[in-house]
Amino acid sequence: MTWYQPAPGATASGVPTGYHLPLGTVTHAKRHGLSADRNTGNEKTERKIILSGMQPTGQLHLGNLEGALKNWVRLQDDYDMYCCIVDWHALTADFNDTDGMQDRILQMAVDYLAAGLDPQKCAIFVQSQVKEHAELHLLFSMLTPVPWLERMPTYKDKRDNLGLDSYGFLGYPVLQAADILLYRAHLVPVGKDQERHIIFARDLAGRFNHLYGAEVFPMCDAKFTEFAEIPGTDGRKMSKSYGNDVRLADSPEETEAKLKKMFTDPEKLRRNDPGRPEVCPVFKLHKAYSPAELVGEIEPTCKSGELGCVDCKKQLIAHLNDALADIRAKRAEWAARPDDVWAVLEDGARRARERAQETMAMVRQAMNLQ
Ligand code: TRP
Repeated sequence: MTWYQPAPGATASGVPTGYHLPLGTVTHAKRHGLSADRNTGNEKTERKIILSGMQPTGQLHLGNLEGALKNWVRLQDDYDMYCCIVDWHALTADFNDTDGMQDRILQMAVDYLAAGLDPQKCAIFVQSQVKEHAELHLLFSMLTPVPWLERMPTYKDKRDNLGLDSYGFLGYPVLQAADILLYRAHLVPVGKDQERHIIFARDLAGRFNHLYGAEVFPMCDAKFTEFAEIPGTDGRKMSKSYGNDVRLADSPEETEAKLKKMFTDPEKLRRNDPGRPEVCPVFKLHKAYSPAELVGEIEPTCKSGELGCVDCKKQLIAHLNDALADIRAKRAEWAARPDDVWAVLEDGARRARERAQETMAMVRQAMNLQ
């Protein structure tokens, strides 16, 4: 038996989908009558599947909103969407800090709903409520060569910087591949930092299909999103762990207080000093949240020194709070009804389980398991 090896130079995007078996190979698939969705002929009528995942970090911030959520909200109309809150993945780093787990899940689900994810259109669910993720992860772990995992940049980086050395952490990409492939997803909206994980999932899908001669898994593609750069209040990338974030859950007053302290061009100390909008994090937020007309005015008046940072921030605060008003109102409504939020998650898990069980039946049959 030959092991499937990924094609050299394969990338998660732009590569023609589909791993092709050598011509003339008589596969188990033919014997079992198994085939992937894309070969059933039903594909035209079936909508493509999207799976996305986020670790339950609690309340979300503007970076999450612009980088992921808004994009998911747009996609839910055209695809069958599964939005997974990956609590097991969170344990790969924080296995000894589980006290707040349920609250972090709830807060994140509230933000999803506030941002406009519609539970009618999209199954929002918690990974650990769909146990099939664990079964597929286990089976995949049997066919994953350890060197594939050891050479993941995310692994080396976190092992060295965070001292993570668990077996589960090494297997992080295997669990992520199980998340994706359990739904036989076609597209995975992620940031560029996740590219290697998506390639890994494709490689594993190809290896499985080849080993068991069953086209169970379609090839998935990453869907990278172009989004506005959202700096945190200290000018670095917005991140909860840097403590520089503005959250959807913040009140307008909290937002104002945070933005008043926000870094600007370090060389513009006084009002009349000429500023450099191109290096100013406040200007980046203006570009994301203020009307184009205002952005057009700020640029020359900042450069000339006419516009001071205090006034510039005042305008940003007003526009940002305006832009977030609807989301915040919706957030407050959902946050007041936690039981309804848990019911949404349960219903999402029920729908996810249906698809997951279908896949597991195909997987078990292909592997000759019960
Ligand atoms: N690794 C992803 C991240 O850190 C989270 C994740 C887990 C994920 N499973 C997934 C993303 C499946 C997309 C699909 O952002």
